[in-house]
Amino acid sequence: MDSVESVKLSHQSEHLHHVFTEVPSRYDLINHVMTFGLDIRWRRLAVKALLEGDPEKVLDLGCGTGDLAITIAKSAKKGVKVTGLDFSPPMLDIAREKAANAGVGDRINLVHGDAGNMPFPNGYLDRVGISFAFRNLTYENPLRERYLGEIVRVLKPGGKFIVVESSQPSNPVIKPLFHIFLNGFVAPVGSLISKNKGAYRYLATSVSNFFTPAEVKQMLLKAGFSGVSYRPLVFGTAGIHVAVK
Ligand SMILES: C[S@@+](CC[C@H](N)C(=O)[O-])C[C@H]1O[C@@H](n2cnc3c(N)ncnc32)[C@H](O)[C@@H]1O
Repeated sequence: MDSVESVKLSHQSEHLHHVFTEVPSRYDLINHVMTFGLDIRWRRLAVKALLEGDPEKVLDLGCGTGDLAITIAKSAKKGVKVTGLDFSPPMLDIAREKAANAGVGDRINLVHGDAGNMPFPNGYLDRVGISFAFRNLTYENPLRERYLGEIVRVLKPGGKFIVVESSQPSNPVIKPLFHIFLNGFVAPVGSLISKNKGAYRYLATSVSNFFTPAEVKQMLLKAGFSGVSYRPLVFGTAGIHVAVK
């Protein structure tokens, strides 16, 4: 399965596509600054969950610059098929270069595609992982059900969907502090470093208003998963959901 040249995008996808073709050059740096480097650890934890049970085919959905896929390829046994899929060509270009530099360029298949119409047969994958792109697919996104349905479709029965994403802390002291941090630090600093005000305003707003872990669980169950577990990270400001088909 190789990269495809053109992807037909829905209207809503076009808006996000614009956001994600604008920010790539400093995208990684900004991520690390915003999370004080914790995003690296969070992806590692997600990869541990992804590789449990010796899967053969693993997808990094919305792979962006490839960090999750690269970590999977570095940790997985030989022979595991690792694919990264994203609809932003500039993100995929960076992912390709980073994978080559990390020595796993030949272990990852990078695919230009849309999460709403993935180029995989039914039940093809053992695992789908998504790092920090689940919010994009579900927050105020009218195509949410379609994206979730597609993920269920491409997973084998018993396959797992692992989501590492920002979350809503339930602690009444942490929650307002987290929102002050998002609006007072993430939005202005992200805008400054990336020179893209809209993208980081969208980030701060979508993180501030994102679903609680219980709401995410309900959404995944409604989409067709049979069980969902959750592990909060750093006072619940982020977390990992594991959903089983
Ligand atoms: C916030 S970034 C996360 C990137 C990466 N997973 C990470 O851990 O840094 C979200 C990514 O999802 C991709 N994306 C958003 N909507 C998508 C869609 N409908 N189909 C494919 N990729 C999508 C964007 O292009 C972007 O690269």
